[in-house]
Amino acid sequence: MPIKKKAQAPVKAKAPTKAKPQAKESEKKEVKTLETLRGMKDILPREGREWADVYRQAMDIAHAYGFQYMETPVVEPAQLFIRSIGRGTDVVDKEMYVFEDKDGSRVCLRPEFTASFVRAHIQHGLLNLPQPVKVWTWGQLFRHDRPQAGRYRQFHQFDCETFGELDPVVDAELIAVAYNFLRDLGIETTVHINSIGSLEDRQNYIMELVGYLKTKRSYLCEDCKKRLVKNPLRVLDCKEEGCRTVLQDAPQILDWLSTKSKNFFMSVIEYLDELKVEYTLDSTLVRGLDYYSDTVFEFFATNKEEGSQSALGGGGRYDGLFEQLGGRPTPACGFALGIERVLYAMPKAKPPVEGSMIEKPPRIFFAQLGDQARRRVLLLIEELRRKGVTVDFNIAKTSLKAQLEIADKVQATHTIIIGQKEVQDGTAIIRDMDSGIQETIDQKKVYQEVMKKLKRGEK
Ligand code: HAM
Repeated sequence: MPIKKKAQAPVKAKAPTKAKPQAKESEKKEVKTLETLRGMKDILPREGREWADVYRQAMDIAHAYGFQYMETPVVEPAQLFIRSIGRGTDVVDKEMYVFEDKDGSRVCLRPEFTASFVRAHIQHGLLNLPQPVKVWTWGQLFRHDRPQAGRYRQFHQFDCETFGELDPVVDAELIAVAYNFLRDLGIETTVHINSIGSLEDRQNYIMELVGYLKTKRSYLCEDCKKRLVKNPLRVLDCKEEGCRTVLQDAPQILDWLSTKSKNFFMSVIEYLDELKVEYTLDSTLVRGLDYYSDTVFEFFATNKEEGSQSALGGGGRYDGLFEQLGGRPTPACGFALGIERVLYAMPKAKPPVEGSMIEKPPRIFFAQLGDQARRRVLLLIEELRRKGVTVDFNIAKTSLKAQLEIADKVQATHTIIIGQKEVQDGTAIIRDMDSGIQETIDQKKVYQEVMKKLKRGEK
């Protein structure tokens, strides 16, 4: 039987498949780039050396004066700063980065070091160590301020504190550390200094000051009208012209100091004279943090007009803070310098600090030709670096010409070249980058040869 062919359904003409249009270059989804938050700043490689150098300078001077390094966490209980710096201050009322942690506690990014250091000393019983206890640190701090020149939301301070000694020589020594640090960096510095006496002196003075300011209320700026109620002492350092005029005839805090505070202050001044620190008595200086008593001071650059507007740093005595934070009564004094402002005030063509990293470092460059040579070079580099020699190389480049060009760029004084032949016979070529003169040396003696050349001061 003939097999019937199944009737086939008519094949529909297939619509021609449309070729997917290629996304045009211009239509490609753009990936948005991200940037630093407002008031935050990257420290770029080109600034890195200067930062490292200033850090080293801070470390050297702190150690020379007998301060020991310590660190506290970036995140602290918000209460620590509310109880120390105080409500009514700009830092606590407006600038603290406070947030709720996952366990519901109120925490903040530290706006300063002083309160954290006091907390740490109470917490770890550090005051049982022989007194005075002298500590220093360096690090990032956070204040949600309106960003402007010299004012960031994340910034750095170099901070020194002395605990456990009620002697004017302590205040003078701390001022001298900051003063000499700034001078060594080439910044002509003046110290503004004042005494705000004891709590009792201040209370009497504030009554007198408020009485006077109330009679001149209409001449004060809007902020100072508020300060008159919240924190009258802050009126004293207002920069508005109207307020400055009013303050010319205001009662002066020095006239309200007890004999004890007055004598203490006079001694600090005498020590500064002996230490040859340049200072200016500034009766309107009160500082913006509540914990201070007696001596207060700030550092200004005198060789830069703009720099002289805002303080490079400040500090003072805070004999009541340990008790305020639950510790036993402990005299204390300290300072902090704002590093961004210090770097800005530094003369750009300053004489290099002795042994400075800003000075041209003795750089040795390694060039390699071939796989085996590369491995040998890596070993030699490791040896030299461990012995403290600054070494550079570029493993990605294979031609000698390209490598010598880089050696020039990084201002290497000498290049050590190893190729196949040198791998075989255990030698290396040392090339003087200025003269181009090359010598062959024993691979085992690369370190000695390099040191000989650097010591001889050939470069
Ligand atoms: P302070 O006056 O608040 O004192 O800060 C010291 C320095 O830190 C200022 O003079 C300034 O150079 C720098 N600084 C402050 N805020 C900023 C900012 N937003 N941007 C850039 N730099 C800034 C204290 O912090 C006290 N804890 C100092 C002290 C130590 N008192 C006793 N011991």
